[in-house]
Amino acid sequence: MSLLSVRNLVIDYARTRALDGAGLEVAQGESVGVVGESGSGKSTLGSAVGRLLPRAARRTEGEVLVAGEPVFDLPAARLRHLRRKHLGFVFQDPIGSLDPTMRVGDQLRLVLGRGGDVRFHLGRVRLDDPRVLRAYPHQLSGGMAQRVAIAMAMATSPDLLVADEPTAALDSQVREEVSDVIFTLAAEAGTSILWLSHDLPAVARRCDRVAVMYGGRVVESGPAAQVLGHPAHPYTAALARSAPAAAAHGVRLEPVPGRPPVLTGPSPGCAFAPRCAFAEDRCAHERPAPVRVREQDVLCHKAIELEDRLTAPIEPAPIEPAPIEPAPIEPAPIEPAPNTTEVTA
Ligand SMILES: Nc1ncnc2c1ncn2[C@@H]1O[C@H](COP(=O)(O)OP(=O)(O)O)[C@@H](O)[C@H]1O
Ligand code: SF4
Ligand SMILES: [Mg+2]
Repeated sequence: MSLLSVRNLVIDYARTRALDGAGLEVAQGESVGVVGESGSGKSTLGSAVGRLLPRAARRTEGEVLVAGEPVFDLPAARLRHLRRKHLGFVFQDPIGSLDPTMRVGDQLRLVLGRGGDVRFHLGRVRLDDPRVLRAYPHQLSGGMAQRVAIAMAMATSPDLLVADEPTAALDSQVREEVSDVIFTLAAEAGTSILWLSHDLPAVARRCDRVAVMYGGRVVESGPAAQVLGHPAHPYTAALARSAPAAAAHGVRLEPVPGRPPVLTGPSPGCAFAPRCAFAEDRCAHERPAPVRVREQDVLCHKAIELEDRLTAPIEPAPIEPAPIEPAPIEPAPIEPAPNTTEVTA
């Protein structure tokens, strides 16, 4: 049994459909990176795991199971118990996630309860300075505050840690250290990680599996090396080419052309169709069903047919000897579609 199962989840805000039939499985002990452009539904998915969505959000369809328990159908007391026993959360804004009116030590004591060793838990996140205990959150740097938030989230050794862009607000040196702390603690405790991120290279380095989100659905998932190295969905291929790690010497980065959709209801077909170079008529009005390509689960009508074309190596651009001579512009492998940027019901 999976530790986390998200099945056909549809979440609506007042006028926006944030999740449009999202599906995801996470096994005990594995780390899964969820990637996609802004607005693809990553944070909504992460918050839905603990039923921590804003008031305006409504679960319209589908379910979330944590350790077999249907999160959206539990009474309040059972939900609190499930969150305490199984789940931990770390968010992007570390200072905002701590209580500004309480000293750090007191906040940790509240989480740990009587007998909890506050210094031990701060030591685990490599915060050994005792002054941290007496500090208020605003007196800490972003990196220190995030370590405190991690210590609190991991204090109970949860089965699953949901980390929503936990390093996005930190500078690059601190980012690596904080990521190390999270992955090391999780490995020691056997905690699964759901790592929501824009940072493809970091996900490729650290996660066992990757789920790629587009328009509120997981459009491709599978082992990280396969999904990011040999994508089977045209969107994953475009995203992988836009990541800085793809910038081998002399290789031009390709931004994903066009803009992501803002859904106001169910996408009638594939939400990527307006930006997809391979789109055909049915893509605009038939929702793709999952297909298996190699080790990946893919939502694309043409995934089988495109298998070899998407894995073709990126052609290196000529390396320029003189800085004033720009490289000749090569045709983009994935052409932007000329029309809409919005997909509506
Ligand atoms: N509190 C909210 N109220 C209304 N719409 C929201 C809210 N939060 C997110 N959305 C919308 O839901 C969609 C998915 O957003 P989000 O889950 O934050 O994606 P991501 O984390 O990938 O950027 C976007 O179109 C976003 O504008
Ligand atoms: S279903 Fe069609 S539009 Fe969507 S990714 Fe596949 S080919 Fe492109
Ligand atoms: Mg987000």
